[in-house]
Parts: sequence; C-alpha cells; structure tokens
Amino acid sequence: MEQVVLSGIKPTGQLQLGNYIGALRNFAKYQDDNQVFVFIADLHALTLPIDPQVLYNNTRDIVAFYLACGLDPNKATIFLQSDVPAHSELGTILGNYAYMGEMNRMTQFKEKASKLNDKSIGLGLYTYPVLMAADILLYNAKTVPVGEDQKQHVELCRNLAERFNHRYKQDVFTIPTPVINKTGARIMSLSDPTKKMSKSDPKGDILLKDDLKAVRKKIMSAVTDLECEVRYDKENKPGISNLLTIYSCLKDITIEEAEKEFIGCNYGTFKKAVADVVCATLEELQAKYNQVIESGIIDEVLQKGAEKASKIANETVKRVKKVIGLYTK
Ligand code: TYM
Repeated sequence: MEQVVLSGIKPTGQLQLGNYIGALRNFAKYQDDNQVFVFIADLHALTLPIDPQVLYNNTRDIVAFYLACGLDPNKATIFLQSDVPAHSELGTILGNYAYMGEMNRMTQFKEKASKLNDKSIGLGLYTYPVLMAADILLYNAKTVPVGEDQKQHVELCRNLAERFNHRYKQDVFTIPTPVINKTGARIMSLSDPTKKMSKSDPKGDILLKDDLKAVRKKIMSAVTDLECEVRYDKENKPGISNLLTIYSCLKDITIEEAEKEFIGCNYGTFKKAVADVVCATLEELQAKYNQVIESGIIDEVLQKGAEKASKIANETVKRVKKVIGLYTK
C-alpha cells in the first residue's frame, strides 16, 4: 500500500558516511511505490551558530547528494524547510502541546547543551524536536527513515500527535513510525569508536566529499584493539565492529557473512578491504554529485519541491487551525 515517507537532513556541516549509511542511501528505494518527501532542515541548522555562506553551501550540497543518491525530483518532493512557512507555523502551534518534562529528557539536547556555556544555549536548540514533529506531521507521514539518534525525536512526535488527536477527539494527525535499519543505524567515529560519527569530528568522520586518499588514510589509521581477530563484538571490539558494519552495509551482506570473509586475516588486510569498498562507493557518489552540480538543476528542483510541499503543508495547517478554534476563512 502506498504510504507517505518523509525524512530530512540538517545542513550544519558536510555530509558524512554515517548520514549516508544510516539515512540518505535508504531514501530513493521508497520513491517508486510511495509518496516521498525529502527536505533540507535548514531552520534546524540555526540552532547552533553557523556562518551564512557555509549554511548556504551545505544546503545546496545536500540537495546535490539527494539527487546523486538516486532521488528523482519527478517522483519525490525535494524541498527546503524554510521555503515552506507552514513548518514554522505548525511548530509554534505544537509548542503548546509539548511538556517541559519531556523536552528535558531529549538526549540530543542534553548532549549538545552540555558542551555549551549555560548562557549561550539557544531556545531553538531546546524546542528543536517540536519543529521536527511539525516537519513530520505536516505531510501525514507514516514512515520516517532515520538513524538511531533520531528515534527519540520521532517518538516525541508520536506522543504529540496522539496527545493532540486525543484532546480534540479526532484523527487530525497520522501517527508516524521511525524506520531504523538493523545494521548501520549508528556508524561510529573512526578515531573514537565509542562515539557516534558526526559532521563535526575531522579525525573520526569520513565526509562524502573527502579526497579518496584522505579517506583511505583515515580508515587505515582507524582505532581498533590489541587482538588480531576480525569479529563483531560491539562492547569489547568497538572499532572492528564499526568497520565490519560499514563493510557489510556497503557490500549489502550480513555482518556474519562479512566476518566469514576475514577469518584469519590481519587488521591491515581487513582495513584495506574496508577502504576499498568505501572509496569505490564514494568515487561513484562524487561522480554523480559533480554531474548534478554541473547540470545546474538545483534551483529548479527546489522551486518545484517547495510548491508541491506547500500545498499539502498548508492544507494541514488549515485543518489544524479549524480544529483548535483559530479563525480561518
Ligand atoms: P542529521 O542531519 O543530524 O542527520 C541526518 C540523518 O543521518 C542520520 N545519522 C546517522 N546514521 C548512522 N550513523 C551516524 N553516525 C549518523 N549520524 C547521523 C540521522 O539519524 C538522520 O537520519 N533532526 C534531524 C533532521 C530532521 C528530520 C526531520 C529527520 C529534521 N526534521 C524530520 C526526519 C524527519 C537531524 O538532525 O538529522
């Protein structure tokens, strides 16, 4: 049955391999049989200070990578969050249905805020999950493919939607479900495999636009352990387990199959095989990315996407306003 599938990426930095494996590469497979909305969460990128030019460039890059990963603008709706004001409007409305207690439990907020001085924690960082709920609910999305770190945010969205429907005794919002891959939903840093790979970790991340020689070097010097056995054991061998995860995802095989390939191999040989598959993937992706950039198609894609997205989003806001008693003609 056709469903509404929605996901987004925030342009706070350059896309990294975790974004690709945990989210990006899964989007296009839905587009033939579902109504797919994929957007750039640019308003979310304002939650921490960011240079305007960097934000602009990152935003265009993500669009190019969406297309490079096979998203077809004739099938999927690709747009910027800030081009559809309904996101902000529903975000403001939903803020009244979210409780401070549940917001205080958001691990991503706690993690990010803990790195800041109390006086410089922006309100937007705190209310971020409410805006994210609006992103999802505007389009009546049922399926939200994301990496593991976004699970809690999608669950908050479910709670808000259920609370809202219950309060007004109507199915105003569709209840979304996070779709998280069993393998690859949390790719770890190469320099510290107990931490998630992120867009802001130069030594531990692999950027989709990285020079392939640098990628190879980062993988060859990835932190492992003192044993010499390529075996998946997240607790005791987080580095090797992470590399096995990357390898199996990019080869489309199971972890067990990957383990079998490397029985009796030393870490150098194993790392070289991981580097080969990562570099082959990135080489193809970068070639497609360059084609998209050269085609000059980005503005047109975003304009068309914003028009299509606005229509649906505005209908939802209208419906919500009517239900809660805001005057609408
Ligand atoms: P963002 O931009 O941090 O990440 C984009 C997607 O990449 C996934 N991801 C990872 N997956 C595996 N391993 C990793 N190391 C890794 N790092 C990131 C994330 O889980 C995510 O799926 N709040 C969202 C953007 C957003 C959104 C939405 C997503 C805004 N509104 C509505 C879905 C629906 C975010 O900051 O993702």
